[in-house]
Amino acid sequence: MDLRPIGVFDSGLGGLTAVRQLMEQLPGEDIIFFGDTGRVPYGTRSRETIVKYARQDIRFLLQFDIKAIVIACNTADTAAGDTVRQEFHLPICGALRPAAVRAAAVTKNHRIGVIGTSATVRSGAYETILRTLDPAAEVRTVACPLLVPLVENHRYQVGDRAVEIITEEYLRPLRDWGCDTLVLGCTHYPLLWDVIAACMGPAVTLVNSGKEAARALAEELGQADMLSGRETGGTCKYYVSDSTEGFAGMASLFLQRPVGQSVEQIDIERYG
Ligand code: DGL
Repeated sequence: MDLRPIGVFDSGLGGLTAVRQLMEQLPGEDIIFFGDTGRVPYGTRSRETIVKYARQDIRFLLQFDIKAIVIACNTADTAAGDTVRQEFHLPICGALRPAAVRAAAVTKNHRIGVIGTSATVRSGAYETILRTLDPAAEVRTVACPLLVPLVENHRYQVGDRAVEIITEEYLRPLRDWGCDTLVLGCTHYPLLWDVIAACMGPAVTLVNSGKEAARALAEELGQADMLSGRETGGTCKYYVSDSTEGFAGMASLFLQRPVGQSVEQIDIERYG
């Protein structure tokens, strides 16, 4: 039994999709969330910069005597996951492996599509891991650089023409190719779930990478006897690197619970 909190970080709001899943799957755990809202997006940056950011995000979270970390960001996980797992000695669960394991388990025609940020697609990490998990898999990846800025600017609803047109343009090649499984390889994309589902059609199974990360962490902590042992009562404290202003409202909406005063702005550059 371990009452210490779980640390979660993302470049911005997207990681809240993983926090929501953690709250649902592990309602008795305390969570410290850091959203690097001052430096979002990570997905357009170089690998070196993303590694530097991930190290700083982890150093910030380590102040809270956390027992484990969720990298609720495919971009940070694919660019920096292996590096930070060697450098920091606590369980670090990313989104890449759990999402790939799920996709390999659900595909029937072995055609798996992956959408993500430019950095995630450039890393080739999804292709590599999916082909290891399912040697028969054909994998196609598509970078969708406009989707994160849209979500960060609160544009993700069905009926938003701009969002629908851009999503359709990105997804059409994957739909025409006939994949039966699509990995949402960015934790911002579950907010676009209905738009993406409408575009891909009912025959395509969508994989929520944030949800799979939460599931994998729950399993890992359970096996290591590191869960709190509480059934309810978990708390969440939020930190961001830019103004807290828009964050609390959006976070409450995404998490479907009030965030209130529990959000604070910090200077992430101090954790160099
Ligand atoms: N939400 C992040 C991910 O899962 C990345 C967004 C970004 O900062 O580009 O990849």
